[in-house]
Amino acid sequence: MTRIVSGIKPTGSLTLGNLIGAIKRFVRLQEDMEDTEFFLFIADLHALTSRQIPHKLRKHTLDVAAMYLAAGLDPEKTTLFIQSEVKEHAELGYLLQSNTYMGELERMTQYKDKSSKQNQNIISSLFTYPALMAADILLYDADYVPVGDDQKQHLELTRDIAERFNHYYHDFFKIPEPIIPKVGARIMDLQNPTKKMSKSEDSDKGCITLFDNEKQIRKKVRSAVTDSYRKIAYDPVKQPGIANLLNIYAGIREEKIETILDMYEDKTYKDLKEDLAEVIVAELLPLQERYHKLIKSDTLQDILDKGREYAQNIAFKKVRKAKRKVGLGRK
Ligand code: AMP
Ligand code: TRP
Repeated sequence: MTRIVSGIKPTGSLTLGNLIGAIKRFVRLQEDMEDTEFFLFIADLHALTSRQIPHKLRKHTLDVAAMYLAAGLDPEKTTLFIQSEVKEHAELGYLLQSNTYMGELERMTQYKDKSSKQNQNIISSLFTYPALMAADILLYDADYVPVGDDQKQHLELTRDIAERFNHYYHDFFKIPEPIIPKVGARIMDLQNPTKKMSKSEDSDKGCITLFDNEKQIRKKVRSAVTDSYRKIAYDPVKQPGIANLLNIYAGIREEKIETILDMYEDKTYKDLKEDLAEVIVAELLPLQERYHKLIKSDTLQDILDKGREYAQNIAFKKVRKAKRKVGLGRK
């Protein structure tokens, strides 16, 4: 049986970028792969690497879980749970942190980027976070880990940490492989199509969140930046705005870019925008309806309870063995 593990950090409102780049991909993977067990957790411990407002963190944690389910995640196939509810993540995180070198963590580009944007009070878990991420993965003996390309380096470090641990303490961890989407899977800001559409910048004109209403969606798509070529073609360098609109269209419809291009070759930018707004509305409104039902329901709570129990059972055994391996405990 193959195992796939992934996590998503519950910071800020979810965006169309998250839906296309992470949520829909995971749901598709779950539909396409047979004989596979899926683990998906909301990485709330990772959210603490930057200052959070407690009630917002709690809300975002549940929002992410509900959105995955609303988007079609099947709780029969996927163990969905909240990271902090399975305390073994933190426990193994510490054991792995004690097998990770300062130099390795100093090389992480995400750490360098994020810490260079702050000049004081950088939280120390921002630095050690890749060891916790390694624990998230290695706890479950994952074969594959679907992540965005920004996480590739963390996954390589996970492999290095696992190999080192295996070397010192004899074979113990499975070495995981990443599953990284091909280029084009990155959705850009509608106002600035060379910048990633991101939920960290509070929902501005260039970012469609999964909670936007019909009017907001239409307005944001209508005012998306394009260019003066007046030709619909896929060229992310020369025409990043149009390429982004095509990517969003293809991403939601789960079609190839060429298929969408064929439909719009002789049409105007206005046609493309009007239709795209329609496509987004048709995707998001039913998603929101399912989300609203779920967020209030016992179903969501039951799924998370069941997920926690199942994950805990596996994680508990793995950590017990890991502690023995490194010499902790009385016997
Ligand atoms: P983040 O929101 O940056 O924590 O990312 C959560 C997940 O959503 C990761 O798997 C990202 O790769 C994916 N993601 C976030 N923003 C985008 C985007 N603009 N385009 C595509 N994927 C994204
Ligand atoms: N670090 C990932 C991100 O920021 C989220 C994450 C945490 C993760 N633990 C993980 C992803 C384990 C895959 C596997 O997107």
